[in-house]
Amino acid sequence: MSNFAIYPSLRDKVVLITGGGSGIGASHVEEFCAQGAKVGFIDINRPAAEAVVAKVADAGHARPTFFETDLRDIEAVKDSIRQFTGSVGDVDILLNNAAHDERHQIEDVTVEYWDDRIAVNLRHQFFAAQAVAPGMIRKRKGSIINFGSLSWRIGMGGMPVYVTAKAGVEGLTRGLARDLGPHDVRVNCIIPGWVMTQRQLDLWVTPEAEKEIEQKQCLKSKVYPADIARMALWLAAEDSRMCTNQTFVVDGGWC
Ligand SMILES: NC(=O)c1ccc[n+]([C@@H]2O[C@H](COP(=O)([O-])OP(=O)(O)OC[C@H]3O[C@@H](n4cnc5c(N)ncnc54)[C@H](O)[C@@H]3O)[C@@H](O)[C@H]2O)c1
Repeated sequence: MSNFAIYPSLRDKVVLITGGGSGIGASHVEEFCAQGAKVGFIDINRPAAEAVVAKVADAGHARPTFFETDLRDIEAVKDSIRQFTGSVGDVDILLNNAAHDERHQIEDVTVEYWDDRIAVNLRHQFFAAQAVAPGMIRKRKGSIINFGSLSWRIGMGGMPVYVTAKAGVEGLTRGLARDLGPHDVRVNCIIPGWVMTQRQLDLWVTPEAEKEIEQKQCLKSKVYPADIARMALWLAAEDSRMCTNQTFVVDGGWC
């Protein structure tokens, strides 16, 4: 028996998740499927995505629909969203989760690299919102959840374009919330702290990093993908119906 909430308002809702093939996104897919939502997700990594679909089915929930789409290709993103809404109806909840936190040095950034990093970390969030907004406006209801990052708030170096994009996500959230609010469409932003995804564990969570986490977080246990997904569930559900235009930080008290 789980200790965590089941939200009646999420049952049968149409949920679109970007980057659902691994990391925090995979946890979103699992958690929303467990709520009885109709989930579709976009990712570029087919083997990882198929493993998520199989895991959800093994847990006895309805299978999510996977779209193998590069989010840098906006026409392909719009096409995937059209296919999804064509089969299950207008999107109720959009999770703009995908990103890629590749490290880069100032002197190595070309114009092409800059554009590519903005495309993978910011641009698709706007165009996915643009694509689902008319359906939400028709229903006079919707929740869009964008994903920012703690990194720029704590002044991290080594990835200037990523942090620029992630700062932009917060501005995008506020701009969309103002324009869509009169239609009862809510737009919020989740700021994850340092989340123990497989990618973070493989690449950066060294014994020294573990010490830093313990020192910087108020809470001494680690943040896991499901901690972020459970905040997304609440922001998607009716329980948060008067919350919009906000950022919600889930970082164990780091910043
Ligand atoms: N993990 C953390 O510590 C952390 C910290 C702060 C913010 N975040 C944010 O949380 C969100 C999820 O992060 P994560 O750690 O799970 O990321 P991740 O890198 O582990 O997973 C991202 C997913 O997006 C997919 N993806 C990447 N580029 C794509 C593209 N061009 N087209 C389609 N799919 C693509 C990947 O295949 C992967 O499945 C991101 O917005 C990230 O910036 C994460």
